[in-house]
Amino acid sequence: MEKTFLMVKPDAVQRGLIGKIVARFEQKGFKLVAAKLMTISEELASNHYGEHKEKPFFSDLVGFITSGPVFAMVWEGENVIATARQMMGKTNPQEALPGTIRGDYGLIVSKNVIHGSDSLDSAEREISLFFNEDELQEYLKDSNKWVY
Ligand code: PPS
Repeated sequence: MEKTFLMVKPDAVQRGLIGKIVARFEQKGFKLVAAKLMTISEELASNHYGEHKEKPFFSDLVGFITSGPVFAMVWEGENVIATARQMMGKTNPQEALPGTIRGDYGLIVSKNVIHGSDSLDSAEREISLFFNEDELQEYLKDSNKWVY
């Protein structure tokens, strides 16, 4: 089953939005298979955003993502990579539609609330950058099990 890497960024952790963001993916029907609150090192940030190192905003991006804890997650489900990107909305919150996470909670591109992998390759790369294999849970989501 497809997996993606999603990360609640420091701005949204500071604003107490972890629960609201997690709830959206739970309600959609995706399965949370790993999660942790962590502070990213400069080395991990530079590696994660390596493809953008020539961009003018690179040092701001690394400075921001290492400025406080992030909530790193792996979600699983049918077509989760593309669907999560749709649910996040456009990179620039000013262009993101209402109803999307960035459209509802973001204001500026440099503090845009959430990161999500944009392809199968980047999902695999980012999951293995942030999580060890034994941190990914395998379980069946059986909603009838606890309902009488
Ligand atoms: S590009 O140029 O299209 O490849 O870049 P893009 O995919 O839009 O953005 C790459 C990541 O950089 C973040 N970003 C910025 N950070 C700080 N300042 C500015 N101006 C800026 N513009 C883009 C953007 O949010 C992307 O990070 P993630 O974590 O994937 O959202």
